[in-house]
Amino acid sequence: MNTIKQQLPLTLNEFKLDTFGEQYSGKVRENFHLDDEIVMVTTDRISAFDHILGTIPFKGQILTQIAGFWFDKTKDVVPNHIKSYPDPQVLVAHKAKPLPVEVIVRGYITGSLWREYSSGINGQYGFMIPSGMKKNQKFDEPILTPSTKAEYGLHDEPISREKIVDGLVDEKVYAQAEKYALQLFEIGQKWAKEQGLILVDTKYEFGLVGDKLIVIDEIHTPDSSRYWIADGYDERFNSGEEQNMLDKENIRQWLIERGFSGDGIPPELTDEIRITMTERYIELFNQLTGRTFEPATGDVQSRIVSNLEKSGYQL
Ligand SMILES: Nc1ncnc2c1ncn2[C@@H]1O[C@H](COP(=O)(O)OP(=O)(O)OP(=O)(O)O)[C@@H](O)[C@H]1O
Ligand SMILES: [Mg+2]
Repeated sequence: MNTIKQQLPLTLNEFKLDTFGEQYSGKVRENFHLDDEIVMVTTDRISAFDHILGTIPFKGQILTQIAGFWFDKTKDVVPNHIKSYPDPQVLVAHKAKPLPVEVIVRGYITGSLWREYSSGINGQYGFMIPSGMKKNQKFDEPILTPSTKAEYGLHDEPISREKIVDGLVDEKVYAQAEKYALQLFEIGQKWAKEQGLILVDTKYEFGLVGDKLIVIDEIHTPDSSRYWIADGYDERFNSGEEQNMLDKENIRQWLIERGFSGDGIPPELTDEIRITMTERYIELFNQLTGRTFEPATGDVQSRIVSNLEKSGYQL
């Protein structure tokens, strides 16, 4: 608790290095494109309803280490882009040529897919979802609901396999990506289950290095995936109650209670909610990985700079 409190003014919000490759800023990550690698710095920024709200102590470290945990666990099955981890919240990746689609795997019908389905939209991914399904119901087998990767500011659109292999991605390559996505998801679901969690759905990105297909970006992090608490799933499903979603739901709830659900200016995060959110993220890390989170305390910005220099990068 004290450790978290002391970290409040030391979190990583903006991160700029003017002479270090070409910088691309996402909502949460700062990516530096070098010749054949990308240095990905995960900041402590938190976003909800597509707005950046502020920072949460240790969030960048937790996200980086969850991604690292999963990349390590799955690397013998699916090759990935990891080169090294120069800092607890930095990863260096082999630069790949990203496929222009995101491969989303879903074990349950919920979220945006549920919203589409329950308003009568079906078939947009090239196959029909059986009629009569209920919210949060499990599919017999996980399904693939790919989407286009929209340019900045635009929304990703659903796309069918047929359209993808008709000019967007070579069919053999896409088939490999589908196979990898399902393999990753199976490993993820199995592990999550042993930890008392459900990996509900997740998004993968793939890229080519030469003609080798690898998984890029991040995998199975709470920013790219939805996790539910396994305990009580059936009871909640049968009574039509919402499932217990880890992480994001807390912050969304907090915002909604203050009258914000996406429009206008979000309320300023209080120290109290920032500390609570860190506690939630640490719980998630510990439960998911089965390890005990070890916070890297102190000023994050200067630590990253120093660690990058130690790894031989000229900033
Ligand atoms: N190994 C890689 N090679 C090439 N591109 C990569 C690699 N890993 C990730 N990328 C790309 O880098 C970008 C990372 O961006 P980032 O996730 O920070 O922001 P974003 O996707 O634009 O927005 P958001 O913050 O909503 O996720 C993505 O476009 C991703 O496809
Ligand atoms: Mg992204």
